[in-house]
Amino acid sequence: MARLRTAVLISGRGSNLQALIDACAARDFPAEIVLVVSNRANAQGLERAARARIPTRVFSHGDFATRDAFDSAINRALKDAGIELICLAGFMRVLGDAFVVAWRDRLINIHPSLLPQFPGLDTHTRALAACVERHGCTVHFVRHAVDSGPIIVQGSVPVLPNDTADTLAARVFAVEHRAYPLAVRLIAEGRVRVLDDNVEIDGRPGPVRLDAA
Ligand code: GAR
Repeated sequence: MARLRTAVLISGRGSNLQALIDACAARDFPAEIVLVVSNRANAQGLERAARARIPTRVFSHGDFATRDAFDSAINRALKDAGIELICLAGFMRVLGDAFVVAWRDRLINIHPSLLPQFPGLDTHTRALAACVERHGCTVHFVRHAVDSGPIIVQGSVPVLPNDTADTLAARVFAVEHRAYPLAVRLIAEGRVRVLDDNVEIDGRPGPVRLDAA
């Protein structure tokens, strides 16, 4: 069976990219990463892509006069590569409405919180300040509003009494690295349907939950 042609967009470390690369290395994984795009030339994730022999493109947002021009250049690269699914993995630029509409239901993001809790930045610090018992990550289809959209997978971890933002982030990263490949697999296997603002998986209401003890 043809594997789903996937692009991963990054800005930095690329540990989620690495989790997706590792998942795609299995012969029976139903997706392949055919392009990695970064808006930063020095993103560590570009080295991970190079090691896996995945083509990379860099679009430095500062080189473009407008956000539309930046989005259009990325859009063209994705179209040229025959991309069927885009994974935002720590891509820290907001994509404009035209891009989001053009890729509707083929554009997904991972966010380090249990949305709708804590959209935006500094999620681990905010989760600690709010004294939540569990925290985690969300993989969702991208919509117009930042960190919103139909949820495919959520992975949760406990918040422990002595946690700092760093120890909590490490625990969340571990579940991110399981949640993102799972979401891509479900989509690539054709098991995900988007109905308005909800997701059905195998005909049942989503999301899939991964709850670490
Ligand atoms: C991840 O924690 C991801 O969830 C987050 O950026 C980090 C990227 O790490 N994304 C967002 O905050 C998007 N709103 P990585 O580069 O090591 O994958």
